[in-house]
Amino acid sequence: NFMGQILDVHQQEQQLIELLGIDHVLIVAGDSDDQPRVLKDIGRLVNETLRLLLPDGENIIAVMGGTTMAQVAKKLTPKLSVGRQLTFVPARGGIGEAVDIQANTVSATMAKHTGGSHRMLYVPEHVSKETYKTLLQEPSVQEVLQLIGKCNTVLHSIGEATLMAQRRGMSAEVIDMIKSEQAVAEAFGYFFNEAGEVVYKIPRIGLQIRDLDHIPYVFAIAGGHSKATAIQAYMKNAPSQTWLITDEGAAKQILKGV
Ligand code: G3H
Repeated sequence: NFMGQILDVHQQEQQLIELLGIDHVLIVAGDSDDQPRVLKDIGRLVNETLRLLLPDGENIIAVMGGTTMAQVAKKLTPKLSVGRQLTFVPARGGIGEAVDIQANTVSATMAKHTGGSHRMLYVPEHVSKETYKTLLQEPSVQEVLQLIGKCNTVLHSIGEATLMAQRRGMSAEVIDMIKSEQAVAEAFGYFFNEAGEVVYKIPRIGLQIRDLDHIPYVFAIAGGHSKATAIQAYMKNAPSQTWLITDEGAAKQILKGV
């Protein structure tokens, strides 16, 4: 019955909080691997949680890319902007995703859906070291980096390591290395093994993982049973103030292993 289901979900949230060692877990019904609707529900829940949580006034929100983030972006609403000025920025420079799921695009979509503003970070991925250095000195790039440095909120997803490395067209050498290091999770362009240790990092400007410790509102948004191992690995060293927004598919799979 319905009440029983709600109690069940609440219990799973508490169990995950203890198991993963983070302060907040919210679970949406269903499994986003099997039902696309679930990802939309995750997006709605992110919108609602941000609406209740973010302080009045100015908020700078740094966002990552990926298919989860692209879906979440579409579910944000103008309600989020009531009493607040929202500025969305990509958290890091290009890490090789297709245009429609790049952090720049996600950030622009979020601004459009909430009535907030956004800034683009123009740093293409396949440029020489020299060009890269020159680009970094561009005032427009510097300005966005400063905004990233002042963000109070981060929204990111978590992916499976090998899948992410392949999707982003990383070299065979790097993919082999990631495999031999037994990476299982990816977030922010960092790759983690099962113990949550960083085994590889895509060298890019912007938000670095150590910066997360000082950011009050950090949201890790990832669902589907296929992401259970990745979520659990990433959470081993995630900052404790992290909110995990996930679904029952992932939650049950993680709790099965206990
Ligand atoms: O960092 C994690 C990946 O961006 C997750 O990508 O949402 O497409 O699974 P995804």
